[in-house]
Amino acid sequence: MAFAPFVLGRRTIGGVGSYFDLITDDARLFYGESFHFGYFAGEANTLEQGLEAHTDLVLEMAQLEKATKVLDVGCGIGTPAIRLASRYGAHVTGVNISQEQVRQGRVLIEQRGLSNRIDLQRGNALELEFQDASFDAVLCVEVGGDICVQSKDKQTLVQELFRIVKPGGSIGFSDLVFTSSPTLEEENALRTLLYHEGKELITDWASLFLQAGFIVERSTDILPQTMPTWDYTMATYQKRSEEAARRYGRRRTENILLNLRKIPLILQKYAAFPVLSLKKPA
Ligand SMILES: C[S@@+](CC[C@H](N)C(=O)[O-])C[C@H]1O[C@@H](n2cnc3c(N)ncnc32)[C@H](O)[C@@H]1O
Repeated sequence: MAFAPFVLGRRTIGGVGSYFDLITDDARLFYGESFHFGYFAGEANTLEQGLEAHTDLVLEMAQLEKATKVLDVGCGIGTPAIRLASRYGAHVTGVNISQEQVRQGRVLIEQRGLSNRIDLQRGNALELEFQDASFDAVLCVEVGGDICVQSKDKQTLVQELFRIVKPGGSIGFSDLVFTSSPTLEEENALRTLLYHEGKELITDWASLFLQAGFIVERSTDILPQTMPTWDYTMATYQKRSEEAARRYGRRRTENILLNLRKIPLILQKYAAFPVLSLKKPA
């Protein structure tokens, strides 16, 4: 998820990197250190706890108990990698198309004293510079729709993940998807928050992973449990509306708030949030 009122032109891979370069400071200020939706099940009572719970769910799906080398694809500023490294014994490599996120992530990792356990690199998830079967497990936390700027990229991504994970290795995957196209007006509201159009996110990830040769071991839709994210986001925006008005102008800030109220309704109508546990046959 991205959080800023920028609307750019047609997406390209380089453009997505520049977009995340641009929005990262604002997103950290208004939203937090994880660039994904919160997962509010059980004990998550704050936005931060919801964001962490989403990471934890994908970590669980990645079956990391025996992993020694893990890849985090589209790793944000390294927050999921830091959580992984502090809980499991594995070494984590994070790849991100955004140079600025790699830079900020390296600072965070250094501050946590984890530089020997986590390595962040700038790179394109569609052309990973790793040999075949390099990793025991892969994390893919809410990135599929961001990485894939064209429809054919979705197949490329799952094939690339199949290539770099070892036989018997696993993947924890989550992403927002749409099941049908929103109207033009709804797409405009979505643009307050999403860089891509809802219709571009119409994807059956489980089928794509199956076609690439993976076994789908677990699959669940967490859309309902992500919904409180919107209440927290709106509350933060309202609480910090003066700061937002200084940054974006008052009219634009009001427009953001207006659209933020519409987004949960649009998602309930058209979206799902699959979380998958995938295994490459041994
Ligand atoms: C919604 S954020 C999720 C970040 C992180 N997984 C997290 O949960 O905090 C999407 C991330 O994918 C990265 N990204 C987008 N396209 C990419 C690509 N082609 N290759 C690698 N990373 C990419 C973005 O820069 C951003 O860090």
